[in-house]
Amino acid sequence: MSQSSARRAYQHGSQNGGAGSTINQKAALASAYQELGKELASSKLKMVGNYTLQRPIGEGTFGKVRLGLHRLTNTRVAIKQIPKAQSASLTREIHHHRRLHHPNVMQLYEVIATEQYIWMVSELCAGGELYDYLVENEVLAEPEARRIFGQLCLAVAYVHSKGIVHRDLKLENILLDERCNVKLGDFGFTREFEAKRLMDTFCGTTGYAAPEMLSGQKYTGAEVDVWSLGVILYALLCGALPFDDDDESVMKDKILRGDFEIPESLSEEAHNLVTSILQQDPTKRPSIHSILTHPWFMKTMVHTPMSTVEEDEKAADYFDSKHASQATASAPQDGLPAESHIDQADARIE
Ligand SMILES: Nc1ncnc2c1ncn2[C@@H]1O[C@H](COP(=O)(O)OP(=O)(O)O)[C@@H](O)[C@H]1O
Ligand SMILES: [Mg+2]
Repeated sequence: MSQSSARRAYQHGSQNGGAGSTINQKAALASAYQELGKELASSKLKMVGNYTLQRPIGEGTFGKVRLGLHRLTNTRVAIKQIPKAQSASLTREIHHHRRLHHPNVMQLYEVIATEQYIWMVSELCAGGELYDYLVENEVLAEPEARRIFGQLCLAVAYVHSKGIVHRDLKLENILLDERCNVKLGDFGFTREFEAKRLMDTFCGTTGYAAPEMLSGQKYTGAEVDVWSLGVILYALLCGALPFDDDDESVMKDKILRGDFEIPESLSEEAHNLVTSILQQDPTKRPSIHSILTHPWFMKTMVHTPMSTVEEDEKAADYFDSKHASQATASAPQDGLPAESHIDQADARIE
């Protein structure tokens, strides 16, 4: 073939391909317009900022928490959606949460405001709530409880060092990452504290509330978080709340009387630490520093944010088994518990 005929053949072919690709491009453009048109006309949002909204992963007081995917980096995040009507109650939460940067505190990445909602985008805690982890495991062995509780204490000590108290420490607000490290979340009741200015608002959940808060006395701040830490430590080691009853007034009575029992299975040091934290007199409760230097913690070093090799293996086994059971339930491959009634493909905003 001569050079000129080769060129002609190429041009001819390219013209044919060009016509074909022009038709394809037109079809692709038409379908993109149609998709976008549908999305713009729909009241159901699929994108917020740079994030694609996916299935719900949690339920908050004011709205759902959804899985989100950053469309440029493919980073998975959690997105809390709150109606703008509730925005007044978010001011403190956002103000305090976005100044916190600690390996055991859930990172708030950004806050997006749209016409109807406020969207709080944060680090995804793929291990879910400590509450569910405990329900699955019933109780934690002391070394594992020590690692998780130690990380929680470090997070709370950091929060206090910023001059704020959490006031809603409970198993549902403590999240875990994929390596089972603690990520403290939900700063909805957080408030700044000063030694001279006392607070008297009841916050949080009865089962975790300090007696002085329940009886309407004034409190400084840190000591009510320390009490909740004691409730959480008890729950991790015993698999139940120390003060529990279906009837809330009975539960309150138990808290006010300091009426709880410690199972004999606990080590002497664990028994001693729990009772020293759950003291009625707030001034006698230990500081977080004293908790972390208690003999119970001296038994094994607390590693944070890295855990020991054995603990990592254990956590990896746990998540592998979780993934395996999800795969059989044809769950999405995102490392989060499957919700059978929700299909990731058509998760929509309500
Ligand atoms: N970053 C996150 N990663 C994974 N799950 C989350 C995340 N943030 C919240 N959730 C889930 O959503 C629930 C509600 O979120 P939370 O911030 O506690 O809202 P509320 O203040 O209304 O209680 C949590 O208990 C948890 O199950
Ligand atoms: Mg919460």
